[in-house]
Amino acid sequence: MRLDKLLSNLGYSSRSQCREMIKKGRVQVDGAVCRDIAMHVKDDARIELDGKEIDTRTRRHLMLYKPSGILTAAEDKNQKTVMDILPGMYTSLGCMPVGRLDKDTTGLLLLTTDGDLAHRLISPRHHVDKVYFARVDGEMTEEDERAFSDGIELKDFTAMPAKLEKIENTLYRVTVQEGKYHQVKRMFGARGRKVLALHRFSFGSLVLDKDMQPGDYRELTEKETAALYEAAGKAHE
Ligand code: URA
Repeated sequence: MRLDKLLSNLGYSSRSQCREMIKKGRVQVDGAVCRDIAMHVKDDARIELDGKEIDTRTRRHLMLYKPSGILTAAEDKNQKTVMDILPGMYTSLGCMPVGRLDKDTTGLLLLTTDGDLAHRLISPRHHVDKVYFARVDGEMTEEDERAFSDGIELKDFTAMPAKLEKIENTLYRVTVQEGKYHQVKRMFGARGRKVLALHRFSFGSLVLDKDMQPGDYRELTEKETAALYEAAGKAHE
């Protein structure tokens, strides 16, 4: 990628300000000052700005504790989206949510710059478990549990087998491997129950950090990232 583009994608000011920084000799590539704004830098180049090394990774994977009341979308003219919570760098690097959580759903949202990884993780073909906690407006029966595990018939499709487990009173843990629009709410709806609150606890082996608060985010560790690539059946880049 061009040096000026890389720096601006990484959030170091606008493209024109980055060009100025480069022309002024503030940027070093692999130990040598580089004043060529159009220089193509390799993925593993060591880049310093004012003598300090910068993190040039363009592949990023994040976990976000999605709060209620914001949209899972890359952008929206009228409403706040999950991308508005994150530093602009993630948008300029092309980070996108992996699947969708409804506006009122809270919990683990994964975001990545790797569109193919995202696609694989949400495809039911890869059988990646998504675990939710659902507070509903009444108690579920053993028959409901069986219906979930048999695959509930909805108006436009039959849901894949899912696991319904009672936690306490009207709180349930639901494990699904697909993520169609309003899927969990519709599955409860088909059994005559309304979901009052929905929270995603985990996505594959990735569990929302216990100490995170709504709106918090962090990049995934190397180990977490490798596990996601493995679950998606994709070689880790
Ligand atoms: N299922 C739903 O109904 N809503 C969500 O946000 C996620 C899964």
